Amino acid sequence: MPNGLDEQSMEETGGDHREISVAEFFEKNKHLLGFENAQKSIITVVKEAVDNSLDACEEDEILPEIQVLIDEYDDKKCRVEIRDNAIGLDRETIPKVFGKLLYGSKFHKLQQSRGQQGIGISASAMYAQLTTGEPVTVYSKQEGEPCHKFVVRIDTEKNEPEIIEDEVIDSDSDEFPGDQDYYFDHGTTIEMQIEAKYTKGHHSIRNYLKHTAIMNPYARVVLREPDGNKIEYPRVSKELPEKPKEIKPHLHGVELGVVLRMVDNSDARTVSSFLQNEFTRVGRTSAENICEEAEIDEGRRPNTLSKDEVEQLLKAAENVKLQSPPTDCLSPIGEDLVLKGLKKELNPEFSTAITRKPTVYKGNPFQVEVGIAYGGDIEDEGSYEELRYANKVPLLYKKSACVTTKAIEEVSWNRYNVSQTGNRPQGPVYILVHIASVWVPFTSEGKEAIANYDPIRKEMKLALQEAGRKLGRYIGRKERKEIQEKKKRKLTSYAKEMAPAIAELAEEGDVDDLENRIQKMVEADYNPEQL
Ligand SMILES: Nc1ncnc2c1ncn2[C@@H]1O[C@H](COP(=O)(O)OP(=O)(O)O)[C@@H](O)[C@H]1O
Ligand SMILES: [Mg+2]
Repeated sequence: MPNGLDEQSMEETGGDHREISVAEFFEKNKHLLGFENAQKSIITVVKEAVDNSLDACEEDEILPEIQVLIDEYDDKKCRVEIRDNAIGLDRETIPKVFGKLLYGSKFHKLQQSRGQQGIGISASAMYAQLTTGEPVTVYSKQEGEPCHKFVVRIDTEKNEPEIIEDEVIDSDSDEFPGDQDYYFDHGTTIEMQIEAKYTKGHHSIRNYLKHTAIMNPYARVVLREPDGNKIEYPRVSKELPEKPKEIKPHLHGVELGVVLRMVDNSDARTVSSFLQNEFTRVGRTSAENICEEAEIDEGRRPNTLSKDEVEQLLKAAENVKLQSPPTDCLSPIGEDLVLKGLKKELNPEFSTAITRKPTVYKGNPFQVEVGIAYGGDIEDEGSYEELRYANKVPLLYKKSACVTTKAIEEVSWNRYNVSQTGNRPQGPVYILVHIASVWVPFTSEGKEAIANYDPIRKEMKLALQEAGRKLGRYIGRKERKEIQEKKKRKLTSYAKEMAPAIAELAEEGDVDDLENRIQKMVEADYNPEQL
């Protein structure tokens, strides 16, 4: 035995070691997933469920209808129910989706979606179980199928679902989750009991849903607050954004380890066909050029490549010109919907939107959208707010760590007739920044802020400047008009005093007529086109 350890003491050492399941890890580190306190946790639970509902609706091109129902019970506990009209889940999938962390349909796809890791709704279920001891109840119905009811716990040690109830529910029964108001022929309803603090301020479900409504104006969302108050976020567009396409990785953006795994799993017969089939934008000639540059026989079987050879291939690919990846994997909402969203939720006096063309960062396509809403009801709401989004999901926390904020701060708002406090614009203005990408570089698992990468910040800045110029022109015109109006008011007020004086001096004339004439002269001076 090395180091003089005998078999028994080896066993003893091993005895202190135990594998940790991912569920146990996140139970202990729930703050990493947005569950650090009772106020934030309820927002996270609603957010994970609503994000999933929107993803599932868009996946099947259904106009989303979502209800969020919240009741308080006991001290600091809430019952949260979220209903959607998406396609629903099949019987086999339900327990795993809600009772197993890191289980989902989106992780292995390179496609733009709100969720990715398969750790959203299951983490919420885990939080419920941890704080109230209650399992999650799920009703899910697919079109033409019966409704399945599941009550599921997570066995945290194994990270496996434990099914407590598994029933088929008759849609006529009282237990069916839908009164007339809420009946959907297909969809999912989730019920959870969680430790929570329901608030109405800046960090609140109201605000999260309002931000969501701006970026998803084709969804109808209803919130019922614990005091029974109902808020509707109406649908103002019946058009869903173009559904994003799945793409293959681009050779300029993949990591060595990933390619090594792809090589092992590939059934391609040659390195050349491996490169052409499993990566985007590699044609026959590019594949040949890469192999030649890497000095690797293109006819070899990919699984005979050594680690060093794969590395050589990747290095060679850097020197070979490859077309940028296709951008139909992106689904921005477009300028028209950004404007509709801003107008319906904020009722501003002026709004403008810019959707930039897609760009590529390290082989990953991304696209930036910006919107500005100014004045109107925002005047009452207070001063300045940022509306930050990643793949249509609002980001409410960690503002100062986010690239969106950095980009806003790099713009000279003064130049666009907007006053500034420090680097930030001053209200009444709301600034919206959205990044759409198959891979958003979040700063942490909680997906709260986007990393400050130069190409992303630059795109955002350009979009902000473009929108800023339009706002600047509007404010400039408005200010000029206001100055003119003021002058006009002043001059016409003189008319009243001047008319009798002139009449007296001239010892004749109709005072009213004189006043009228002076008024007309002032009008003509300020509205020459009316002459
Ligand atoms: N309301 C829903 N309707 C349809 N499918 C859903 C719904 N909620 C969750 N799912 C499915 O469950 C999976 C896991 O959800 P989640 O844990 O939030 O992970 P993610 O959204 O990151 O994939 C999703 O990938 C999706 O396939
Ligand atoms: Mg999710």
